[in-house]
Amino acid sequence: MKLFITENYDEMSELGARITASVVTLKPDCVLGLATGSTPDGMYSALARKCDAGELDFSKVVTYNLDEYYPIKPDNDQSYRYFMDKHLFDLINIDKANTHVLNGTVEDPAAECAAYDEAIEAAGGIDLQVLGIGVNGHIGFNEPDSELIAATHLTGLTESTIEANSRFFESANDVPRHALTMGLAPIMKAKKILILISGKNKHEALMGLLSGKITPSNPATMLAMHSDVTVICDKAAYEG
Ligand code: GLP
Repeated sequence: MKLFITENYDEMSELGARITASVVTLKPDCVLGLATGSTPDGMYSALARKCDAGELDFSKVVTYNLDEYYPIKPDNDQSYRYFMDKHLFDLINIDKANTHVLNGTVEDPAAECAAYDEAIEAAGGIDLQVLGIGVNGHIGFNEPDSELIAATHLTGLTESTIEANSRFFESANDVPRHALTMGLAPIMKAKKILILISGKNKHEALMGLLSGKITPSNPATMLAMHSDVTVICDKAAYEG
């Protein structure tokens, strides 16, 4: 596991963008696994600036997002499809047909999830998986539990996540209680993983990740078993 500790959020975002850009440069038709949330937002802006400056070409890049609320319509401004369009896809020269986000409107979530895993496999797997982390150590919406699920699946959200994510909604009551999330298997099968961690409130989750001890009470600790993980955290997250 490679660890970079940056002075602040902006430096974390710039470094994350440089690493992601290097993957796109080396393999223009790469498959990126992407995350939502306030953490990768700065990195997405930096990538959009590079694309605008003609330094980066996304025209052949394929993306698969980690998760989506369930149920939610894609045009709801709290959906992760809406977030990705607004914060990245509409700002770069990507072909929207190559961008994939789990569909939060389907009647059969199990079929949607199985098809998503098959599509990732058919695309050749993920070259770089970008991750954020929940305050409770969740990755995607793989929440702490006594058992973790390998395949992409429908999951309930913990009270801690509903509380943390309520800042984006009018009230905690408006946060969907379920989500579709990539399971740990497609995440762990990614060739490279880049995890961004910012802010004091992520300190405990980060320390768990760096401890090398694996526990389902902090799903991010699974990453200790992956051979190519880069952690970029800011000082606030590292020092707590
Ligand atoms: C959300 C998402 C995660 C994200 C995490 C942290 O609930 N499901 O994919 O990494 O929580 O979000 P933020 O970056 O806003 O702190």
